[in-house]
Amino acid sequence: NNRTPLVAGNWKMNGSRSLVETFSHSLNAQSFEGLDVVVCPPDGYLSMFNNEHFSLGAQDVSHLDNGAHTGDMSTDMLKELGAKYVIVGHSERREDHNETNLLVAKKAAKAKQAGLIPIICVGESLSVREAGDVKSFVGEQIAALFAEMTSDTLNDAVIAYEPIWAIGTGKTATPEQAQEVHAFIRKTLTEHDEALAHRTRILYGGSVKPDNAKALFGQPDIDGGLIGGASLKTDDFMAICQAAI
Ligand code: G3H
Repeated sequence: NNRTPLVAGNWKMNGSRSLVETFSHSLNAQSFEGLDVVVCPPDGYLSMFNNEHFSLGAQDVSHLDNGAHTGDMSTDMLKELGAKYVIVGHSERREDHNETNLLVAKKAAKAKQAGLIPIICVGESLSVREAGDVKSFVGEQIAALFAEMTSDTLNDAVIAYEPIWAIGTGKTATPEQAQEVHAFIRKTLTEHDEALAHRTRILYGGSVKPDNAKALFGQPDIDGGLIGGASLKTDDFMAICQAAI
């Protein structure tokens, strides 16, 4: 395939001005030929980066235009702060803020419309996996996107498969388990638009570390990773980036 691999670090509600400086320095000292590298810090830190060799992303965005929406950030604001990407529908937001498939689809559509690249997260809980319902659950999350977006507007969007039971637990999906769901997601996209399916980058997230990254990224339908814990340590994050090249 000719998809450019992508590694995105999701800092979640972590970081500091000094971590911004450390990352700006370390990542700019590298060149990542043939790889897109993205750092997604909390919004307030976005404009503090000096990012020559990597891009910035936000962790969430409002589906609404500027206006009376206390605490929310709009696509216009994120762009002005330097974001090129935005994560939408992370399981922590679905859980902590009751974000539904419909809202996630609206956020993704809004981001695309504004020229931001959405990294749309999907993935099942342990109970869904144990019940054998992974494909129907993830299939519904993907189907919701097509209710709000056409395959034209989904163009260039990124999908991240993050099994909730693997997030922050140190329990990674095996490369085979991940590949199976990635292939399913690509097949689901194919049913809507074959060219879109071929183009779309599908990232894996959930306890990706330097020692398991290579095997995961080596799978045919895994086009990179969405990294949580290991994205807060420059050495680990850079090792994971190298594994994707
Ligand atoms: O967005 C990132 C994921 O939730 C993965 O987090 O690498 O700490 O498991 P983790």
